[in-house]
Amino acid sequence: FVFKTCFSILMVSCDPTSLKGSADSCPFPSNFLFGTASSSYQFEGAVLSDGKGINNWDVFTHKPGKIEDGSNGDVAVDHYHRYPEDVDLMDYIGVNTYRFSISWARILPNGRFGNVNRAGIKHYNTLINTLLRKGIQPFVTLTHYDIPQELEDIYGSWLNSKVQEDFKYYADICFRFFGDRVKYWVTFNEPNVVVIRGYRSGIYPPSRCSKPFGNCSSGDSEKEPFIAAHNMILSHAAAADIYRTKYQKKQGGSIGIVLNALWYEPISNSLEDKAAAGRAQSFYMNWFLDPIIHGKYPMEMREILQSDLPTFSKHDLEKLKNGLDFIGINHYTSFYVKDCIFSPCEPGPGASKTEGFALRTAQKNGIFIGEPTAADWLFVYPQGMEKIVTYIKERYNNTPMFITENGFGENDNPNSTMEILLHDVKRVEYMNGYLEALAKAMRKGADVRGYFAWSLLDNFEWTSGYTLRFGLHHVDYATLKRTPRLSATWYKEFIASHKAQN
Ligand code: NOJ
Repeated sequence: FVFKTCFSILMVSCDPTSLKGSADSCPFPSNFLFGTASSSYQFEGAVLSDGKGINNWDVFTHKPGKIEDGSNGDVAVDHYHRYPEDVDLMDYIGVNTYRFSISWARILPNGRFGNVNRAGIKHYNTLINTLLRKGIQPFVTLTHYDIPQELEDIYGSWLNSKVQEDFKYYADICFRFFGDRVKYWVTFNEPNVVVIRGYRSGIYPPSRCSKPFGNCSSGDSEKEPFIAAHNMILSHAAAADIYRTKYQKKQGGSIGIVLNALWYEPISNSLEDKAAAGRAQSFYMNWFLDPIIHGKYPMEMREILQSDLPTFSKHDLEKLKNGLDFIGINHYTSFYVKDCIFSPCEPGPGASKTEGFALRTAQKNGIFIGEPTAADWLFVYPQGMEKIVTYIKERYNNTPMFITENGFGENDNPNSTMEILLHDVKRVEYMNGYLEALAKAMRKGADVRGYFAWSLLDNFEWTSGYTLRFGLHHVDYATLKRTPRLSATWYKEFIASHKAQN
């Protein structure tokens, strides 16, 4: 009964017979990709199996005090061994795509030229073939936070321009071995989060931070996030360039980048707060998309940072041109933004120059922007999906987009019964609301080609360890047993109903 109520109340509805573009026409075309997403470190486990090298997250999670529950991804959800079962779960839901990442250290244990680990290649070949046999398109990310530790130890990874050559070499190998079957490539997952958490607040590896964020060790500088980002942008360009020149014609796929995309709502209607919301976006998402699409950093960044912002040479710009085929959007949440140039802001990280003097806050007059959740960064504000997609559509000339992640996290209540743990009504409401908002943006013309739920399974949620669960399936971490939640069944019905309407 509960099921029925959920479906009837919560299904994005559309009338397949109505004219295209009208308010209730079906927004998701028949070739729309519906999938689930994952990443190597969060899912695979098998930390030392089959010649894999050590990566930065292997090292980081084993240092005391870094992860909330003291856990790590050594075993994670053992997707490395259990992928056949996981592909069956996807098949049952009826998805037509699966987003996963390749572990760089499985392919190149030391991260650099030479020494390709054949067992790593074999593993991903088998995964890709298993997916394709079920009609599930692989949507593959080259680096989702994890990089071989040696790159860090030898030359300081993203702070050193040498990394561009190494990333290009790694990407080339992936295109060569897998590109005959992989038609969607993502160079980076959320480079904006990596630089902000790795080089500003220091809560992710390589634990570097800049004042006034975090508790800085001496020697780290405010410029580092911008240097790391610059090397990532040029690494992306190098990989995209090699894909275009050596592989794309023959293989016929496409390449993009995935950004964490927050919606920034001005806290008031004042021109100052509106401008601040624009600056916040420029110092977050546009920081990466502008150079790749428009060939330069956002104007606000150039004005505020001046010589602290690296510049692109003529040669760089040549490579950056046509830097992507699609934009990947990881959207979960929204924030208010308040201006800190023309109005007083409480001193603190959000008001700093390196964030464009734009203070990000979840509350206005004590009221949250959307319903708070177990994660202190996640507020349920479905309208944010329509707004961010529309914003990206307008700023980047309706470049094809994929919602590469969207999902809802909750904590386990220690007294919960299995029945309660599986009855994730809030996740269903969240997904339904966000999909409905996405449909609105698409009806108004946004060229969105796919949607991926984060995530198929509960998994290792970075610094939150295993405390925060995002899965359409519950994972019992003692036995690694997967059990579908209500949301898995709901997503299955949702996909089926959209197939039926097309
Ligand atoms: C985005 C990241 O790409 C993913 O790794 C993470 O688990 C989710 N956000 C949820 O926080």
